[in-house]
Amino acid sequence: MTNETTYLENLLNNRKVVRNYKKTSLEDTKLKNISKFSIKIPTAGFSRGIEILNTFDVKKIKNVSKIFNEDNFIKDGKSPWISNSLALFFILLNEEAYHHRYSKNDKTNAVNSKDWDVPYWYVDAGAAMMNCILLIEEKELSSGFMGLHNIDRKKIHEEFKIPDTYQIIGMITAGVEDSNTDISKNKHNKKKLIHNEFFSR
Ligand SMILES: Cc1cc2nc3c(=O)[nH]c(=O)nc-3n(C[C@H](O)[C@H](O)[C@H](O)COP(=O)(O)O)c2cc1C
Repeated sequence: MTNETTYLENLLNNRKVVRNYKKTSLEDTKLKNISKFSIKIPTAGFSRGIEILNTFDVKKIKNVSKIFNEDNFIKDGKSPWISNSLALFFILLNEEAYHHRYSKNDKTNAVNSKDWDVPYWYVDAGAAMMNCILLIEEKELSSGFMGLHNIDRKKIHEEFKIPDTYQIIGMITAGVEDSNTDISKNKHNKKKLIHNEFFSR
């Protein structure tokens, strides 16, 4: 046993959502395998209802930043985030894949996926999100995550031809942090979130 921090522990320790990226360009192949490995997740019942759509296209990235009303944020003094991203990754949910899987004969004794107390598709989506974030960090880039709750999500469907039967869970950004506007990290570390052997406050 050693007290040295492992590579993965370090990556997790240093990860933070970065919302300010420098304008840079991307080495063609650097992020090409991110989606391929991000999707290596367990899914409930092996339903495989989580998919990833990525874009490296500067014009499409710019269009997405407009859909997210980034100009308004910049007017309010915030830094460019989405528009300076090198790549965007959308985590997509095909909920029907779960219901289809759980309608099969070997699942007749399982709770119907429409009655799940915990909708496992969100668990699976989170796993893909974290894989994606860590793979981006491994490439020594910064990552961010953005929900679509404040925007017209139909416009993202249109931009990328995503069928209406899919739900976009969120968007991961990859970019080079503009360190001039760095914000402090690990700001929530004091809150007790880990319980050893027994739950305790
Ligand atoms: C499900 C989820 C949704 C989030 N949505 C947004 C968002 O819409 N906009 C945003 O700026 N950050 C969003 N975040 C990022 C969180 O605000 C961020 O993780 C949190 O501030 C903690 O910061 P850290 O990741 O740097 O520790 C989201 C994170 C998660 C996990």
